[in-house]
Amino acid sequence: MDKKGLIVTIDGPSGAGKSTLCRKLAELLGYVALDTGAMYRAVALAAARRGFDGEDCSVLEKLCAAIQIDFSRGEGKEQVLLDGEDVSEAIRTPEISLLSSRVSRCRGVRRALVRRQQEIGAAGGVVLEGRDTGTMVFPDADIKFFLDAGAVERGMRRYRELKGKGIEVDPQQTIADMESRDRADQEREDSPLTVAADAVVIDSTALSIEEVLGRMLEIIRRHSAFVSTCEKSLWKD
Ligand code: DC
Repeated sequence: MDKKGLIVTIDGPSGAGKSTLCRKLAELLGYVALDTGAMYRAVALAAARRGFDGEDCSVLEKLCAAIQIDFSRGEGKEQVLLDGEDVSEAIRTPEISLLSSRVSRCRGVRRALVRRQQEIGAAGGVVLEGRDTGTMVFPDADIKFFLDAGAVERGMRRYRELKGKGIEVDPQQTIADMESRDRADQEREDSPLTVAADAVVIDSTALSIEEVLGRMLEIIRRHSAFVSTCEKSLWKD
């Protein structure tokens, strides 16, 4: 199958700036942006609405098969749809953040969501962001980034983001929640958050979004120039 473009992955802990960079990068490249965390959040929201606490994996696996998660561009922004309902805001609460981390430990849930992510991204021309997009979803991705930042900075970014959306939270609590979620994401048995051996690591602690974006674009440009040089020399031989 002819690919529509590159497969670019961005992994890293919460609050490192993955979502914003994924969206901006996809916009600039004319690619599809895939926020894989939103899918785990949608499963968590569906579980919470049914009163599930996220501990019983077989229940979650069945739930996963029964719900439909889609992305759509509506009202000028990317929307996350759960069984056709726009849940873009509802999946961003602190409660759903914690439950999504619990839900993501479940092997059956991961298998179902990873399959869906592979279907969406297989044609290329996609930027995916999450925890395992370069290690499990697309281990052969063209370009892999691992975006990191200091824990306090990440916690404060998340605090400002929630505050901006009118969600009242305590900054210390936000940092503590984020650290405990990071620990769970790094220590879980199935597909823990790890740096792919061939990922480009960027620490965004002291960098603006524009600076990180500039670095990513430069790496993509160099990769594309390298590939086209290789292609030309292949034709010559
Ligand atoms: O990126 P996020 O904060 O929206 O992700 C929510 C949770 O989903 C996070 O705690 C871990 C999980 N997740 C995952 O396990 N694998 C991914 N590819 C993306 C998210």
